[in-house]
Amino acid sequence: MATNRTFTMVKPDAFGDGNTGAITQMIEAAGFKIVAMKLTRLSAEAAGKFYKVHNERPFYKDLCAYMSSGPIVAMILEKDNAVSDFRKLIGATNPANAEEGTIRKRFAKSIEANAVHGSDSDENAEIEGSFFFSGLERVS
Ligand code: TYD
Repeated sequence: MATNRTFTMVKPDAFGDGNTGAITQMIEAAGFKIVAMKLTRLSAEAAGKFYKVHNERPFYKDLCAYMSSGPIVAMILEKDNAVSDFRKLIGATNPANAEEGTIRKRFAKSIEANAVHGSDSDENAEIEGSFFFSGLERVS
């Protein structure tokens, strides 16, 4: 994957509340192009693999249960400076600290149910995109 791509998920709280369209609209309005998109539901095991970097953290078990509690929408997004610009668009992990105009400020309910995921590096964007999408499922 080129370094101008990032990976996101609309998390179960936001999907369940019917906010996928509004979130996708914010993403596109901010200049990101969707190059892959999928509606799916993670098993607890798959959520555990996706978040294995956090497996020593106290919130890991609850996070895996939450992330497998309902459908998610996975996307690969393209834009210059995709990873850092997308982190700015989603806002702080804890919505209490998220700035006005960010996706988490608008839609997140808590630090756990925080509406969207965004990769934190180019390397993780590639790993996370490949977790969900084959080459055939990505448009160029
Ligand atoms: P993290 O990678 O720190 O945040 P971000 O999603 O902003 O990159 O954490 C991953 C997810 O773990 C986060 O989106 C929600 C969950 N989480 C908790 O449930 N409790 C916490 O205290 C933290 C830090 C994260």
